Amino acid sequence: MGRTRRTRIKNKNVARDLNLSSDRDLVYFMQWMTRNGWSQLHKFQVSEFKNTGRGVLTKESVHVGDSLVKIPKKLLITLNSVSQSEHFTKFTDLSNRFSTQQLLAAFLVFQRHLAEKSFWYHYINSLPKTFPIPAFYNFSNDVPDFLSEEISKMLKKMREQYEHFLQSINKRLKCDHCNNSAGSIFDFESFKWAWCTVNSRAVYISPDCGGNLKFQLTDSNCLALAPYLDLFNHSNSAKVKAAVTSDGSYEITTLTDCKKFSQVFINYGQHSNLNLYLQYGFILESNINDVIPLSFPSIVQCTKKIYPNVLNSMNTYVNYISSHSLLKNPSLNLDGLSWSANVIIFILISSNRMNLKSIEFKVYSDDFDDEDLQLIKEIALILIEDKRTELGGFVNQLENQGGALSSGDQLLCHQTSINLIKEYLSILDKCESTFH
Ligand SMILES: C[S@@+](CC[C@H](N)C(=O)[O-])C[C@H]1O[C@@H](n2cnc3c(N)ncnc32)[C@H](O)[C@@H]1O
Ligand SMILES: [Zn+2]
Repeated sequence: MGRTRRTRIKNKNVARDLNLSSDRDLVYFMQWMTRNGWSQLHKFQVSEFKNTGRGVLTKESVHVGDSLVKIPKKLLITLNSVSQSEHFTKFTDLSNRFSTQQLLAAFLVFQRHLAEKSFWYHYINSLPKTFPIPAFYNFSNDVPDFLSEEISKMLKKMREQYEHFLQSINKRLKCDHCNNSAGSIFDFESFKWAWCTVNSRAVYISPDCGGNLKFQLTDSNCLALAPYLDLFNHSNSAKVKAAVTSDGSYEITTLTDCKKFSQVFINYGQHSNLNLYLQYGFILESNINDVIPLSFPSIVQCTKKIYPNVLNSMNTYVNYISSHSLLKNPSLNLDGLSWSANVIIFILISSNRMNLKSIEFKVYSDDFDDEDLQLIKEIALILIEDKRTELGGFVNQLENQGGALSSGDQLLCHQTSINLIKEYLSILDKCESTFH
């Protein structure tokens, strides 16, 4: 069979990525970018990918050292843009201090309100309307505790920044364009959308690049929205270099090759799946940054299954563990137990059979003999089984809730929470295999 025919047959079974270059909002967006000094550096095409959603496909090979994008200064939304907008700054009481994310989000709300009258109108139209992140859907009541605590923290921060912003503006002041009051423009739903936009799309810029601002900040001026650059998705294997050039443009250079007709990824940084889920609404398979945290009480509880008296002689040892910060981040990971989990278990099981000096010596010289390792392994396997049962319960609980959800990003967000826990289950399998 000829190669072309074979390829054609193979491709019939593969869902094609959808070319979005004729999407009306994207066409206007690119035309606006071009009018304002941007040009395409490669044969890139915005596409909808089956696994990652909208992203950028390259129709030519891209090589290490190639510049992927260069976004002119004029098109970046930075705190300088915010500070220079008199229509926006007139609402705010400049004696207050604001965070960078809070100001960028509020500015975005205002620009969206201005619609066609905003310079960034076409950029704003290119942005997602919803986000598959749990804080956007207030998911905190329906998920396991370890997730709901993180989601609640995020929601609390978002709420506080919104309330604080609202208190810092003159709510009765009228918008120059439509005569509506500031209070009606800066509503929570719009702020939430804008806050999630900044959270999942802003890039890091060095605070040195910022000029003089009208605002006082609670953090450093280190975020910018970079239209078009924010269409690139993340991969752990992509390596990029970001820089602000002498003319103030934001440029990304790739340090990895990209094959013709493949998706071009950039790197948002080394994130665990939990962090990716909370901040960006997706997770990665076999993410090397992932660990399964263990609490100290859960380690004690599992150790007691073999050493029921472990706590009786524990006070000195618990103090010892705490004072040496060994409690820091005990976890299960792809390579087995973290060092701190190993040490905590070792101390717990040795508290009846060794004095503190000998324990200390072994811990700091990392000199565990075969017998020690065998005893640690027994507890590790109990911990793994315990976690497996707990996580399996969460998957069942979440799968039972799925039917009540509508479609789109909310469903995706829910499905991602299940996938996150399934990833943890697969880490447990790999962790267990290191003991056999
Ligand atoms: C900077 S934007 C990238 C472009 C975005 N996909 C869009 O349609 O505008 C970041 C968002 O893209 C999505 N994303 C990025 N990398 C991803 C990946 N590897 N898998 C799935 N979704 C990803 C997530 O929704 C994330 O919040
Ligand atoms: Zn208005």
